[in-house]
Amino acid sequence: MLERIDRTGGAAFAAVVLGCAGPQSSLEPAGRSAEGLSQLFWWMSAGAFVIWAVVTALAVYAAYLSRRPRGAKRVEALVIGGGAVFPTIVLAGLLVHSLSMLPEVLAHAPRGSQVIEVVGEQYWWRVRYLDGGRAIDTANEIHLPVGAPVELRLSSPDVIHSFWVPSLGGKVDMIPGRRTRLRLDPSRTGTFRGVCAEYCGASHAWMAFAVVVEERDAYERWLASQAGPAASPSGAREVRGAELFLANGCGACHTVRGTGADGTIGPDLTHVGSRGTIGAGRFANRASNMRRFIARPGELKPGVHMPAFAMLTDRDLDALAAYLGSLR
Ligand code: CUA
Repeated sequence: MLERIDRTGGAAFAAVVLGCAGPQSSLEPAGRSAEGLSQLFWWMSAGAFVIWAVVTALAVYAAYLSRRPRGAKRVEALVIGGGAVFPTIVLAGLLVHSLSMLPEVLAHAPRGSQVIEVVGEQYWWRVRYLDGGRAIDTANEIHLPVGAPVELRLSSPDVIHSFWVPSLGGKVDMIPGRRTRLRLDPSRTGTFRGVCAEYCGASHAWMAFAVVVEERDAYERWLASQAGPAASPSGAREVRGAELFLANGCGACHTVRGTGADGTIGPDLTHVGSRGTIGAGRFANRASNMRRFIARPGELKPGVHMPAFAMLTDRDLDALAAYLGSLR
């Protein structure tokens, strides 16, 4: 931590003190509009500080330093100048500065940019890459190429969510019956955390996702692998897990492309093993967590629509977790 403070100086120090550094910080921007918002924050803070300092100085001066009675003219000038003119000028300047950022924040990504549809579900993120004529479905993890604008089309089937990746840009609501959009321009690689920023139900706080910004080659490789069908189960345990997956009706809600599972109620699991988390950012993607989640999703994530499969034996849960983990 100290090394970090040394390296990046005062702004980062303030961010650390405020608990605002890391993969989910609008004060450590990794995208163009986030950079603008971060600057705006510091300008607003500076403006607020200047007003606070002047008002405090005047109060101290009036209360302690100058006991002489003042003429009515001087008092009037002080009240109008310090109480109306000065804050009006500072606030108007900040307003003009912030409004001037709007056109860029609201701009569409240029034609030919990657379009990604993101649907807010209770409580996870349905993600669809529109790539030429094809649609590539995934969930709860978004990959973006560094240095290229992308257009996100945001919607929700039932309740209002809000899509927010603080490191990359502003937040935009996902509203039933409407389509909103957001342009992101990632400027450096890394894995950033996105969240739902609008209260949407019991597991609102467990509705997160990862945004992986990577070099163009790595991104293209990822997209090509996501477009393909699921890997065939290899070991005996994975084969057993695949059988259990279909026998227990998991395919009624989840799709695993290339198998009989074609449900669309829950997240697409074709490449679930490649994701960093399960349960929309709830847990690290490990077999032990997958087992727990399959057995008791509602205890770990209140309000989740997935039923519990606590009747399965430990061996069966192991096999299911192994199978899902192998879907990379
Ligand atoms: Cu979705 Cu809060």
